[in-house]
Amino acid sequence: MNVRSAETAVEGGSRLAKGEGPPTRNGRQPLFSVQDLEVAYERTTVVFGVSLEVPTHGLVCLMGRNGVGKSTVLSAIMGLLPIRAGRIVLDGLDMTDLPPYKRVRAGLAYVPQQRLGFPYLTVHENLVAVLEASRHRDPAAIDEALDIFPRLKPLLSRPAGFLSGGQQQQLAIARALVTRPRLLLLDEPTEGIQPSIILEIEDAIEKLHAERGMSILLVEQYVEFALRLADSYVVLDAGEVAAAGDTAELDEARVRRLLSV
Ligand SMILES: Nc1ncnc2c1ncn2[C@@H]1O[C@H](COP(=O)(O)OP(=O)(O)O)[C@@H](O)[C@H]1O
Ligand SMILES: [Mg+2]
Repeated sequence: MNVRSAETAVEGGSRLAKGEGPPTRNGRQPLFSVQDLEVAYERTTVVFGVSLEVPTHGLVCLMGRNGVGKSTVLSAIMGLLPIRAGRIVLDGLDMTDLPPYKRVRAGLAYVPQQRLGFPYLTVHENLVAVLEASRHRDPAAIDEALDIFPRLKPLLSRPAGFLSGGQQQQLAIARALVTRPRLLLLDEPTEGIQPSIILEIEDAIEKLHAERGMSILLVEQYVEFALRLADSYVVLDAGEVAAAGDTAELDEARVRRLLSV
C-alpha cells in the first residue's frame, strides 16, 4: 500500500522525540495514542482523562453504554470538538492542535455514527469525491474499497440516498477506505442495521484487520462483537475508562455489568 508517513504528509503538528510519549505494555510505541483526554460541552465535562492506544495493525474496541462519551472521544480525536486537556498522537506526530483536514492528511479516517455522505450523488460519485480530495488520488483505491464491499459494485450508478441503511453504512466505510487511512475510526457501524448486513459489515472489518493489516478503533456496544473481532478493548463508564485490556483476558462478567442498562 502506498502509505506516506505522517511526517511527510502534514505541515504543522510537532514531532515527538524518540522515546517520548507513553510507555506501552510491550515496550513499543503504539501507532496511535490518546492521553488524558478531557472534553466538555459548554461547561459540562463529559470525558474525564481518557487514555487509550491502538497498536500498528491493531483492532481496539471502544465500548460502553449510551451516553458514556464514546462518540465524543472520536469527535475529539478528529478535531471536531475543542478539548480541555490531553494529547492525541499518531505515529509520533502530535496532532492535538491540528485542524481536522490535517488529521485526515496525516492518516485518520472517520465514519461517524450518522454515516454522512452525499445522498444526491451516486455511489460512484461519492467515492470519487473522496478520491479527488485525497492526497494520493490513485483510482485503484476505489477498487480496493469495493473489494471489501462487493455488494456496492452493482449499485455504483444509484444515488446514495436510495440505498438501504446497511448499504449506506457500507458506502460510508468504503468512502473512508478510499483515503487509504493509517487509522480507521468507526462509530457503531452496525447500529440500526438488519442482522444479515451486520454480519457482512463484521466480516468486512475482520478482513480489513486480518488481511490488510488496517489499524482500527471501533466503537461498539456489544461484547460479542468485541470478543469476535478485537485484539483489545476499552470500556468507558460516565466518561472514564472503567476497564481495558487484551480481549483474550477480558473479564466477561465485569464488562457485561458495565454495559448493561
Ligand atoms: N452536542 C452536544 N451538546 C451537549 N451535550 C452533548 C452533545 N453531544 C453529546 N452530549 C452529551 O455528552 C455525553 C456523551 O455523549 P456521546 O459521546 O454521544 O456518548 P456515546 O457515544 O457513548 O453514546 C452524553 O451525556 C450526551 O448527552
Ligand atoms: Mg455514540
